[in-house]
Amino acid sequence: MNGDMNHGISGRTASEIADSLRGLVERGMLRPGDPLPPVRTLAESLGVNRNTTVAAYRQLTQAGVVVTRGRGGTRVAHRSPVAQEGFAADTVLRDVGTGNPDPDLIPDPSKALQSMAGRPVLYGEPVIDPDLESWARSWMQDDLGSAGPMRLTITSGAADAVERLLAQSLTRDDAVALEDPCFLASIHTVRLGGYRPVPVPVDDEGMTVAGLRDALEQGIRAVVCTPRAQNPTGASLSAQRAAELRDVLADHPYVLVIEDDHFSLLSQRPFHSLIGPEHRRWALIRSVSKFLGPDMCLAVTASDPDTAERLAMRLTPGTTWVSHLLQRLTLALVTDPGVVAAIDRAGARYAARNAAFARRLTARGIAAEPGDGLNLWVALPVTARTVTDRLMRRGWLARSGDEFLVADAAPSDRLRLTVHDLDDDDAEQLADDIAAAVDALRERLAPGQVG
Ligand SMILES: Cc1ncc(COP(=O)(O)O)c(C=O)c1O
Repeated sequence: MNGDMNHGISGRTASEIADSLRGLVERGMLRPGDPLPPVRTLAESLGVNRNTTVAAYRQLTQAGVVVTRGRGGTRVAHRSPVAQEGFAADTVLRDVGTGNPDPDLIPDPSKALQSMAGRPVLYGEPVIDPDLESWARSWMQDDLGSAGPMRLTITSGAADAVERLLAQSLTRDDAVALEDPCFLASIHTVRLGGYRPVPVPVDDEGMTVAGLRDALEQGIRAVVCTPRAQNPTGASLSAQRAAELRDVLADHPYVLVIEDDHFSLLSQRPFHSLIGPEHRRWALIRSVSKFLGPDMCLAVTASDPDTAERLAMRLTPGTTWVSHLLQRLTLALVTDPGVVAAIDRAGARYAARNAAFARRLTARGIAAEPGDGLNLWVALPVTARTVTDRLMRRGWLARSGDEFLVADAAPSDRLRLTVHDLDDDDAEQLADDIAAAVDALRERLAPGQVG
């Protein structure tokens, strides 16, 4: 095969071949859905070992540029290699997969907006508002008592913090441990950054010890962990699990530990940290998105001073610091006793609505356990996609667990439901529809078969 039949792919090493392919995709010469040559054919035409083309395709798969579908071969990925949180576009279906907070439970900022005006902030001033810093410091310190000295950074939300933290310490192809299943934006960030995601299974108490140990043996440089209200499973680290994970990490003090405590003030569970007293590279991120709304676009990150220093270089004045108007608004809200009480009530409300929905499903023969967080993670006796397909016919758009998987696993038998905002009638209807879909599918299966 000559160069043209290879779409102009060139290179002698895996990285060169991957770069050449990336360039073709960027210039639009290879378009989403286009097939790539089989690895053997490409290796022969470039005169390289087959392992080299396999490695090049693997790099591109990890970066989300291409997708490999077994016998279907490798193709250029469509623009969004992983699903996104939030409302689905263009659907008339009732969306119960959004992962959104309830707008009625987000505090009204009108009063705080009136009180927050201050003098203008100019280039060269500290990037963190001093009053927000002192409030955030005590908030973080309460939970990080045993970690070493800390510094604070403000970013445009948690996903932004994760991306910057990884970018300041990793290079392409570095391995990053992710919970499996995982929050979609973290999967996305790792893929787009060209890092290698290493899945760590999650059970009822959070990341598993064996999974983390295994990931460390594979040479991970960073681990992203959700200590509470893990998205999608709702799991929170128990005190014992956190201690066991800290023990495992004690031999790897320079692996960057990123804790994404996204549910913080709304959480119904205590916070247990993975960060031990001797750990050298760590960051605890707390976004305000879940309790003040995603549009605040603000998260506080506490980290070791070295990590903070490097983060700060990426947030220098004149480029991308977070507006002091947003910082002052956040402070005004979180220090208003009325807002604090409302946030407490919101946390209790999410928990109560999810627990009520779990009981509805359990009463219909689908045992469901509520975790912590905005969503309910439901185990089904059949594959989830077959149920989401049937639910569509009944007017519901639900998410199957497949979207959240990091490892290539068998089809998921989980649904992630965002149902805290359904009224009782709609909740009854959805529970009925899920049970009917499951029953219909079970009847079609031989005993013992999961279809
Ligand atoms: C685990 C987790 N982290 C972070 C976020 C979002 O945080 P932010 O809006 O601050 O980027 C979410 C939102 O769904 C989440 O589930």
